[in-house]
Amino acid sequence: MRHPSTAAIRLADYRPADFAIDSVELDFKLHPTKTRVTARLALRRNPAGDASAPLALDGDDLTLVGVTLDGVALAPGDYEATPDRLTLAKVPDAPFTLDIETEINPSGNTQLSGLYRSGSAYCTQCEAEGFRRITYFLDRPDVLSVYTTRIEAAKGEAPILLSNGNPVARGDIAGTDRHYAIWRDPFRKPSYLFALVGGDLGVLRDSFTTMTGRKVDLAIYVEHGKEARAGYAMDALKRSMRWDEEKFGREYDLDVFNIVAVSDFNMGAMENKGLNIFNDKYVLASADTATDGDYAGIEGVIAHEYFHNWTGNRITCRDWFQLCLKEGLTVFRDQEFSADMRSRAVERIGDVRGLRLAQFPEDAGPLAHPVRPDVYQEINNFYTATVYEKGAEIIRMLRVLIGEETFRRGMDLYFERFDGTAATVEDFLSCFAAASGRDLKHFALWYSQAGTPVVTTAGDYDAAAKTFTLKFQQETAPTPGQSEKKPVVIPIALALFGENGQKLDLVSDDATPTELARGLIELDAAERVIKFREVPSRPVVSLLRGFSAPVRLEPAPANEDLERLLALDDDPFNRWQAAQGLALRAIFGRLETGALDAKGLTEALRSLLAKAEDDPALVAQALSLPSDIDLAREKASDVDPDVLFDARMALRAEIGRSLGAELEAIYARFADEGAYAPDAASAGRRALRNVALDLLAAGDCEKGRALAMAQFEAAGNMTDRLAALATLALLGGHAREEAFARFYAQYAGDALVIDKWFSLQAMIPEAATTQRVLSLMSHREFSLANPNRVRALIGAFANGNLTRFHALDGSGYDLLTSVVLQVDPKNPQLAARLLSTLRSWRTMESRRRDLIEARLKHIVAQENLSADLRDIATRALG
Ligand code: TRP
Ligand code: ZN
Repeated sequence: MRHPSTAAIRLADYRPADFAIDSVELDFKLHPTKTRVTARLALRRNPAGDASAPLALDGDDLTLVGVTLDGVALAPGDYEATPDRLTLAKVPDAPFTLDIETEINPSGNTQLSGLYRSGSAYCTQCEAEGFRRITYFLDRPDVLSVYTTRIEAAKGEAPILLSNGNPVARGDIAGTDRHYAIWRDPFRKPSYLFALVGGDLGVLRDSFTTMTGRKVDLAIYVEHGKEARAGYAMDALKRSMRWDEEKFGREYDLDVFNIVAVSDFNMGAMENKGLNIFNDKYVLASADTATDGDYAGIEGVIAHEYFHNWTGNRITCRDWFQLCLKEGLTVFRDQEFSADMRSRAVERIGDVRGLRLAQFPEDAGPLAHPVRPDVYQEINNFYTATVYEKGAEIIRMLRVLIGEETFRRGMDLYFERFDGTAATVEDFLSCFAAASGRDLKHFALWYSQAGTPVVTTAGDYDAAAKTFTLKFQQETAPTPGQSEKKPVVIPIALALFGENGQKLDLVSDDATPTELARGLIELDAAERVIKFREVPSRPVVSLLRGFSAPVRLEPAPANEDLERLLALDDDPFNRWQAAQGLALRAIFGRLETGALDAKGLTEALRSLLAKAEDDPALVAQALSLPSDIDLAREKASDVDPDVLFDARMALRAEIGRSLGAELEAIYARFADEGAYAPDAASAGRRALRNVALDLLAAGDCEKGRALAMAQFEAAGNMTDRLAALATLALLGGHAREEAFARFYAQYAGDALVIDKWFSLQAMIPEAATTQRVLSLMSHREFSLANPNRVRALIGAFANGNLTRFHALDGSGYDLLTSVVLQVDPKNPQLAARLLSTLRSWRTMESRRRDLIEARLKHIVAQENLSADLRDIATRALG
């Protein structure tokens, strides 16, 4: 078990490693409980390190069998070995070889970090600090080595033996039931990219010919019998490989590229060099088992991990503070890939929805941290929405600011200068400064300053002078450890629309010609005033087009402006934003006055529905109301989920009633057209039809129930079947229970589908749900050992069912606390993530705030908490 370390790690304390490890030869003798690992390390002193430092290798929960230095076995007095450190006080000045033998227990490894078992297979997860659970090592990302790996296992148990790089040899071990395989990865890499898999797996094979004509063998390994379900992932992989060549000039570099899907995995997937390991949720899909959302998720994660080969592997991170260097950049790249594969507008809306749902609350609460943190206790807790999603937004802003071509030149320079190294955010930015000739010092503040800037605008039209004066102000609220905030560089894309909906030329003496020509204002001070001339009438302002910066805009435009933007803006993102703005107005208006005024919104949606054929996916997004989490975030303080929920339901019902006829027509017109195809256009039609169903059911329960039951029966794919079940889940009654029972009977044992069955039940917004979740925890298909299952049931309850989770009797909080404390001894990363659900607790109204605070204090008071959980609980209490 990991010892709760108390020492904070600081970016300012970075020192180069005292030793370099040029090569690593690993030998694994796989055994369920007693795996033997020998590591032969070619070590030498690092000229940049401390010349007199002892050799201190990291370990975690290790049992040392023996150490040999330059072929001579060391006596116990020559070294000091504990489970988490191997220290040699004296080592030669000349390069030397160290052989280290450890014994580890993969079956007992429930943390899913290091070498563990998923089902009967052996697999590894080494990011961030899992390699030290396999052997003693300089387990830090700036120590780069060439790895050769030999794996030996019983043939029956593990006919498939994989590691990084290219296959070198394989064969039987004469006179035994065992065999071996040898892999060599010619690219120097840090230990966190090491991977090994051994098991009895099915495989889907294909190949890809790179832009220079090299043939790469592709393989996706899955549970036997599920090979066909890997078809979409394989297709996405080949498209990713081509796209990276075309858009970034990046070619794949090994003879093979392997992907292995496992059921027990803490995160989405892992980019290990040449051997990506995936949560099977992001690999397996068939029309009958996966939704359109699942397909999109697979495409995005396959691309993300593949893109890491250049942004993460060929160029890695100097230290873990630089995590955003690979993650923010790679998220940006996968978002761009999905935008090219699908609809750019719908992709952007989805990405911004995700950012606001997860990152904005993080940035506004006690767990707020800079995209590049400067201190951490436990690095696993920094794989956050801020590092990933806000990190991607920074890259996007950079591209907006310097333009697409210059951005590409900066990327080329980055690959040219830093290939084969462990780099920093400064290294990255220096390439864009060079390519653009811009000083990016001020821009770099986005990396070190936490918190979401609020941009306040005020417009003033002077009819006589035909001028429109737009005043911008920015402010960022204090975050933990950062009480003073400076203005950041905010690119604000904008357009002014005239009376007849025409886009006006921007004319002003207060902005540069480039700014005016591009419609992109750079707000880099606390305040800026721009007086636009030659404005014939009071304009409608479209601000922050395409969500050009990760900020909050205040105030929202007046309703009549939102209605006009929804009708005429040529920026689809801002059309969607206008619909959201109107919905938020209607909901918050009802909270204030008790009356619901949704006339403007419903009329605007009615005209959208009339043109639904143009872009069904976009119309579906416009019809998707803000969620309870969106509402809680916008409310920002004194949050009472019951009140928000009532107002949201009232708006849904009102839209369903007043647009009933139109929605029914859409529902009929967009009916399923035969064979399922997962492409974006087909998915958009299904999305529109299913949101219509949801609203119809809100307006007229009986009609909705009948339609949903019929759809549930007839559905030819999981998207439509699950949407029908979700509608029935909200409507309640016998039909719902019947549908859940039938769904279970049909899919029992199909884990990824049963996860959906658990989730939908956890999200039923009724008093009985808490008890239902507790009962489901005793279901024979429930297990606290499987992260997907825990997230499906407990995560869905805590994130997707705010009224029940925040029940005033504290029952929801008790449930979460109990699960977190049960999971922690087994899987600290999972426990810490579950507890992060409470990150916005201070925004709740006082009764709930007190209840949560008591639970957090109860957790902190426990002895033997993992470092992961203690870090989150302590910071949450702040
Ligand atoms: N680097 C992985 C990614 O592509 C993230 C990841 C996978 C991870 N497994 C992990 C991070 C375990 C920490 C611990 O984003
Ligand atoms: Zn990543």
